[in-house]
Amino acid sequence: MPVLSRALKQFLDLLRCPLCASCLHSDGGALRCQTGHTFDIARHGYVSLLAGNRATSGDDAAMARARERFLSTGKYVPVRAAVARLAADTELEQGTVVDAGCGTGYYLKAVLDELPAAYGLGLDSSVRALASAARSHERATAATWDVFRPFPLTDAMADVVLDVFAPRNPPEFHRVLRPAGRLIVVRPTGRHLAELRGPFPAAVTIDPAKEQRLHRALSPFFEAAGTEPVEYISSLTRQEALDLMGMTPSARHLAIADLDLGRPLPDRVTVSVLATAYRPRHRVPRGNVYRPRNP
Ligand SMILES: C[S@@+](CC[C@H](N)C(=O)[O-])C[C@H]1O[C@@H](n2cnc3c(N)ncnc32)[C@H](O)[C@@H]1O
Ligand SMILES: [Zn+2]
Repeated sequence: MPVLSRALKQFLDLLRCPLCASCLHSDGGALRCQTGHTFDIARHGYVSLLAGNRATSGDDAAMARARERFLSTGKYVPVRAAVARLAADTELEQGTVVDAGCGTGYYLKAVLDELPAAYGLGLDSSVRALASAARSHERATAATWDVFRPFPLTDAMADVVLDVFAPRNPPEFHRVLRPAGRLIVVRPTGRHLAELRGPFPAAVTIDPAKEQRLHRALSPFFEAAGTEPVEYISSLTRQEALDLMGMTPSARHLAIADLDLGRPLPDRVTVSVLATAYRPRHRVPRGNVYRPRNP
């Protein structure tokens, strides 16, 4: 039977039953609320809070494997370092980091290394990714969740919310962040992976209006406190190029062999992202406030 990890224990008081919003307690290999709703803790250590529901999106096993292989090459270390630097500026109160769309936990791990007093919770809809995220750090735990739904978390429970190349839910980010906390968002610029556009046109085209859309979605809730642009040229092996493509949503259900097809691939690629730390606005416009179901 899976045991409750120290990290999951740290989050027990901060989690809420996704079905009735009451508190959760540990009961054998599961978390249970007072009404009797039960959420299994998987053998790999993550909690299945999305039990019975399916998220609208999320990585399949092949994408999560490609992501893990690519990130293990170290080619995104400068991006990870920027996230860790931005997180290091946050004053901890709750000692908690929530990583929305955490994937394999690559960035959560770096932030926890930077904040030795903090515990981290990764949320993702991909069970394959969560199996890695739950083991990414001794102070990390993870749960299945659909980022587009109200989070099964209490108000103002997080010092840091991370959103790295992942879907966003600005009202929920605002609700779960404490007022002095920070939201850290990483997204690609128009130059990101540009060299791969020739061989894989559909996979890496960045909508030029994306940055404007991000600003429009976040600005009722957050203001930017600082941005770190990260841009560099990285060498690229054939396997790395295929993995970079294999971890994009357009590669869903495609095997690496289907991506390969012997096509010529570049041996260098531009990595170009913006990492921004946002501070929550204290007043959010009426009508934009998410009304939590928490008691
Ligand atoms: C591009 S990956 C980024 C993962 C991780 N942050 C990283 O950069 O390594 C996007 C992640 O969001 C997850 N995701 C997609 N849709 C989601 C949803 N509706 N709810 C939760 N996670 C979702 C995917 O499973 C995937 O792990
Ligand atoms: Zn319940």
